[in-house]
Amino acid sequence: MGTGDVSSAASLFSPVGVGPLRVASRPWMAPLTRGRASMPGHVPNALNALSYAQRGHPARGAGLIIAQAACVSEEGRGYDATAGIHTPEQVRGWKQLTDAVHAQGGRIACQLWHVGRVSHTSPQPGGGQPVGPTSVPSRSRTYVDASMERVPTSVPRALGADEIPAIVEQFAHPARCAKEAGFDAVALGRAFISNPDLAHRFRHGLPLSPWDSATFSGGGAAGYTSYPSLAGGR
Ligand SMILES: Cc1cc2nc3c(=O)[nH]c(=O)nc-3n(C[C@H](O)[C@H](O)[C@H](O)COP(=O)(O)O)c2cc1C
Repeated sequence: MGTGDVSSAASLFSPVGVGPLRVASRPWMAPLTRGRASMPGHVPNALNALSYAQRGHPARGAGLIIAQAACVSEEGRGYDATAGIHTPEQVRGWKQLTDAVHAQGGRIACQLWHVGRVSHTSPQPGGGQPVGPTSVPSRSRTYVDASMERVPTSVPRALGADEIPAIVEQFAHPARCAKEAGFDAVALGRAFISNPDLAHRFRHGLPLSPWDSATFSGGGAAGYTSYPSLAGGR
């Protein structure tokens, strides 16, 4: 959009339909983890609701906010004071945010989050090792208490194939919680890498393909456009 390009500006601020969802304007806010959930319990609170209300007005801010990543389970958490979306208390907490955004005519989506190996033993249930697709540490840092000091992530435990159904359920339950909390949509990340037809698979109860993290970035078609689509098409 060039400066003074009135027709493009007009369309930027015009409504758009996303499936059954009507979104009043097209500047959308990307997910921004800011912490500040109430502890203990990792519960979204009135301060979080105010922050979203300030940004979720479709004429002044975002037509749609993809909310900060929400932890699907205790095991899936890697940072201090990041809100979860798997307990009744957290659902009630998020409802304050979705209500605040909806009251202004805005829309809000939930980003479901399992950090995998990018975690530390201290936020893990029983102080156990974080689970990941591999036992190789991520060589990254995380903050695990209110000091916000970043510490090296812990050595993860490689997830067994027999544990995958429980991880799938760790996403299914929070997706139901997100609906209950009043979210308009759910955003998913890496599952789309290896399942180009993810919605089709969900709709028909079809198996999901695992991703190959070695091909996440760079390279050619392998691991980029080579994953099969069970729905057919290209
Ligand atoms: C403070 C902060 C928190 C972020 N949290 C998330 C997050 O929770 N989920 C996510 O997918 N991306 C997250 N991101 C990435 C942003 O969504 C976005 O992709 C990135 O900031 C690039 O966009 P920008 O150049 O407009 O800032 C975060 C970025 C920042 C700066």
